[in-house]
Amino acid sequence: MKQRDAVLLGAAAFLVAAIAVAGMKQGGKSNFLGNANDNAKAMIDQGRHTFRFDTYGDEAFWTDQLHIQQSVKTLSPGTALMLGLKVDSAALSPSTVQAIKHGMVNLNDPAVTLQLIKQNAVLGVVGTFNGSALTRVGFTCALCHSTVDNSVAPGIGNRIDGLANRDLNVGAIIATAPNLQPVVDLLRLAPQDESVTAQDVRNVLNSWGPGKFDAELFLDGKTSNPAQITNGITTATNISGAVLIPNALGLAGHNLHTWTGGWGTVTYWNAFVAVNELHGIGTFFDERFDDATQFPIAAAAKLGHVSVDPDSDRVTGKLAALHFYQLSLPSVQPRPGIDFNVAAAERGDELFSGKANCNSCHHEPLWTEPGWNQHSAEEMKIDSFEADRSPGHAYQTMTLAGVFVRERGLFMFPQNKGRFYHDGRFQTLMDVVNSYDARFNLGLTEQEKHDLVEYLKSL
Ligand code: HEC
Ligand code: HEC
Repeated sequence: MKQRDAVLLGAAAFLVAAIAVAGMKQGGKSNFLGNANDNAKAMIDQGRHTFRFDTYGDEAFWTDQLHIQQSVKTLSPGTALMLGLKVDSAALSPSTVQAIKHGMVNLNDPAVTLQLIKQNAVLGVVGTFNGSALTRVGFTCALCHSTVDNSVAPGIGNRIDGLANRDLNVGAIIATAPNLQPVVDLLRLAPQDESVTAQDVRNVLNSWGPGKFDAELFLDGKTSNPAQITNGITTATNISGAVLIPNALGLAGHNLHTWTGGWGTVTYWNAFVAVNELHGIGTFFDERFDDATQFPIAAAAKLGHVSVDPDSDRVTGKLAALHFYQLSLPSVQPRPGIDFNVAAAERGDELFSGKANCNSCHHEPLWTEPGWNQHSAEEMKIDSFEADRSPGHAYQTMTLAGVFVRERGLFMFPQNKGRFYHDGRFQTLMDVVNSYDARFNLGLTEQEKHDLVEYLKSL
């Protein structure tokens, strides 16, 4: 290159760079450096879409293996609502919403259910259609972790992403699948379950009840808690190993997740659920699953070493935005005078960090510990069944933000309200407080217990 050309080229390069810098200054945007606000917005949009509508290709399991589309085809809208499936009214035409309000929609006609699925109106259920025929069904995160505000009818209204569906009978829905052999084959990998049958699996699934799911069943094959649970309120044995579906909102700032905490962060659990529970097509890695004593099924089926080719991986590329979206979801805010008594809550606030000592674990205003937020069963003075099913052998200090929703039974069937702690062993917040009072010898008076409950409802 001649010297003159080189100088010209250098000048041209300088000009291009100067224009780029000027452009950056003008618009404040540059793909090179990125922009946090734009990025946040794009992540939320993408994450919301994934959370609501992405099946990660899990039709390969639910349709191709379990043939669940066959039972979905025969599901009337009435039965679907009874099973706790929710309908997004925003996805329906105004005339359909009016027809529902006036009782003009036939709730006994399975064709109506298919129409709803086709319009993407059934939360968490994604259908593939050939004309009007349903050919494939898959599930998304929204199935369990969202519900509706019931503004049109019970079970029909606006979506609330992140709020647990406490009505959803996941077990009963899976139990309708015509072919449970793939689940049977998995459970037979546990030494104690070599002779398990499809009927056994159906019995276990039907023992879960509304608002519950057992994510660890497919790791350890355990179906029920043999411990005698005595908490000053109730005594029960062999209660189902399923746990309540927690909220997937209000979790920003929390380190460990799920009832037992020991798995990891939100994004750990998202990857695990997408690959090993929904059975989407993706990669998941956790060497702790190789412990055949704790996780006989996971170790034998190598569930901690699921690896697919990057080009066919339908999970990994979505984890960042999915995580971001979940962390952006706020918890539901209680309304003074409606959801709680203000004066009583103020007195309860003093007790919470004083005599009742709740703040030592549920640290205000995060309501869990900043840091390693879990405690042994011994420390909690409860049985260790569920804790021992997780690598951390402990229980996570669950958030208290928004507990009033359950106490008041908002956005759920009245019969499913309340239910606190992982297995719902406490029916009401007063039951929870009575139990802490007994377990930790707090010596609270009846008035103090009442004030503490009002405070919990104000969070
Ligand atoms: C079949 C119902 C079901 C589906 C579908 C489901 N979850 Fe969950 N989720 C649960 C249950 C039950 C737990 C509690 C598990 C435990 O503690 O053993 C949970 C726990 C969580 C938690 C931890 C919450 C906390 O308080 O720490 C997050 C986050 C979460 N799920 C996200 C997701 C995402 C993302 C998806 C989709 C990839 C998803 N879930 C799909 C039932 C479900
Ligand atoms: C030693 C730590 C610790 C202390 C002290 C403590 N908690 Fe908890 N709390 C936990 C853990 C861990 C859980 C989850 C237990 C489970 O699900 O099995 C929990 C769960 C709860 C729940 C149920 C949350 C849900 O989503 O179902 C409520 C309500 C609650 N605590 C209130 C209180 C109150 C009120 C006090 C004070 C009287 C208190 N806690 C003291 C650790 C603690």
